Amino acid sequence: MLNKIIEIVKEAGKIILSAHNQESTITAKEGKKNFVTKYDVAVQDFLFKELGKAFPEAEFVGEEGENDFKSNALRFIIDPIDGTTNFMQDYRCSCISVALCKENNVIMGIVYNPYTKEIFSAEQGKGAYLNGEKMQVSERPLSDGLALFGTSPYHPENTDETFALLRKVFDFSRDIRRSGSAAYDICMVACGRCEVFFEKDLQPWDIAAGTLILKEAGGIASNYEGNEINFSSPNDVVFANPEAYKEFLTLL
Ligand code: IPD
Ligand code: CA
Ligand code: CA
Repeated sequence: MLNKIIEIVKEAGKIILSAHNQESTITAKEGKKNFVTKYDVAVQDFLFKELGKAFPEAEFVGEEGENDFKSNALRFIIDPIDGTTNFMQDYRCSCISVALCKENNVIMGIVYNPYTKEIFSAEQGKGAYLNGEKMQVSERPLSDGLALFGTSPYHPENTDETFALLRKVFDFSRDIRRSGSAAYDICMVACGRCEVFFEKDLQPWDIAAGTLILKEAGGIASNYEGNEINFSSPNDVVFANPEAYKEFLTLL
């Protein structure tokens, strides 16, 4: 099952790599910083169609419409392009994020960066893998490590809180980074290159696949209150290795 999903996600990645003149295909969404391109829609349509053929019993939730969080069936939660702003400007750091959920549990997660050809994947209880190699979170504490964050760009009401926390995290850690793709950031923590990722008001499709990947790699994922993330509404989230997680909570 996981291999079939990976095969389909890799095919979808070709749509991203074939893109040209992305900026001419932009449509504004709600707010000042939120956009969608014809490629976001094309990748989502492709995934819905191909995954639907392979898994006819599944229902689909995607960032670009068709959202229905009501039932407890086998459900795909999909972000066709996580990092649309990067994609629009050909910054070349965007991912496809696909989670398969059963009764509100993520049972499989795939995050694919087509530019670097990195496939991050996990199946519940079976560990996390980067291009087929088992991966693990780092043992570095945050005080000796790198922190990743998101700016919550579609929620200007969060900006002051985000940057106040960022200042504390910057002072506490080696340095900070901002990739522009939350799904990729979570995988950077999962594979041990970075220690913490945090952002307010992320949507289920940004984080569902990454949450399983990070946990299967030995990391901790929670909301800012330290509770389980739920995949039916926005969450303020932290993803970290166990040591860095404890340190981060003291900064909140
Ligand atoms: C966004 C990216 C970004 C994060 C935003 C997300 P999108 O997803 O993950 O890094 O800061 O909060 O919404 O809109 O490019 O799919
Ligand atoms: Ca996203
Ligand atoms: Ca997206």
